[in-house]
Amino acid sequence: LSNNNINKIYKALEQFNKANLGVFPTPIHRLENFQKKINHNNIWIKRDDLTGLGMGGNKVRTLEYLLGDALLKNSDTILVSGPLQSNMCSIAAAASRKIGLSCITVHNSNTPKELKGNVTLLSLLNAKSYFIGETDEDERQQFVEKIATELKKIGKKPYIILKGGSTALGALGYVQAAVELYEQIKKLKLNIKHVFMPAGHGGTVAGLIVGAGLLDIPFHVHVISVEHPKHELVKIINNLIKEIEELLDLKITYPIDQVMTIYDDYMGEGWGKPTKESDSMIYEFPQLEGIFVEKVYTSKVVVGMVDLLQKQVIPSDDGACYWHTGGLPSLFAQV
Ligand SMILES: Cc1ncc(COP(=O)(O)O)c(C=O)c1O
Repeated sequence: LSNNNINKIYKALEQFNKANLGVFPTPIHRLENFQKKINHNNIWIKRDDLTGLGMGGNKVRTLEYLLGDALLKNSDTILVSGPLQSNMCSIAAAASRKIGLSCITVHNSNTPKELKGNVTLLSLLNAKSYFIGETDEDERQQFVEKIATELKKIGKKPYIILKGGSTALGALGYVQAAVELYEQIKKLKLNIKHVFMPAGHGGTVAGLIVGAGLLDIPFHVHVISVEHPKHELVKIINNLIKEIEELLDLKITYPIDQVMTIYDDYMGEGWGKPTKESDSMIYEFPQLEGIFVEKVYTSKVVVGMVDLLQKQVIPSDDGACYWHTGGLPSLFAQV
């Protein structure tokens, strides 16, 4: 593999304005106790729970590109929306503080009776938050648009973060993360051939897949769906991949199923609905490694990875890497 590919990716990414929000590269290390427990000898973790802003998480990488764009456009107010315990909302509020912008968050939930999890963080950051009742994502977006219109009327410059940041621009953070992991693998001479990551709206994995594809597939991306059935998620991810390729003006030259595999066997009844296995994993994993996972995203990935390793879906000599995407504040609203 040539450094040429890396240079091409860096050059393409450099066209975009970035806000420096996080601390990178995030650590990578072996999961000694965990690998012993599941009878494997080559299991690693990529610590995007330690991205260095707020309480960490994948969205810090996403926001570097989105808020970079907001700064370029001279925006003064970030408008972001999500469910009550949205990780994106609290990280966007923290990021906005860091770069001196205002942040408004909109939640399709009732007003919480007590401060818990991400809502506590929003309060500590003194974000302006609206709780608009239990509506769907479309209604929530309409409310966001309404606030944006009102802000413009009083001379403000709002910047709307769509779909929890799962857009092509937001996904560039994970194109870059693919290069980061690749460089760590090379520098530390690791034999990591498989990466496991969750997908909600799919932006995070889509970025990683494009990165892996452009790097000539140093690792295969195993996508654990926590929200959509496979036939839906395939379409969402493929669309995002196309958009990212257009944005970067770079193209993956491999069939996409050589780069990724999607599994919907571990999501249970869907987003935010724990399974028996993911419920136990929030205890098992920290009791082995001292590292926490939460119920919506990260525990389901560990469950999927263990199952796939035990079914020997991947060769037993190949290294596997669990990509921890954070989301830990929500744990304090879950148990
Ligand atoms: C902790 C955590 N992991 C993974 C994801 C998945 O990201 P995406 O929506 O880009 O698939 C999210 C998104 O909210 C998240 O908060």
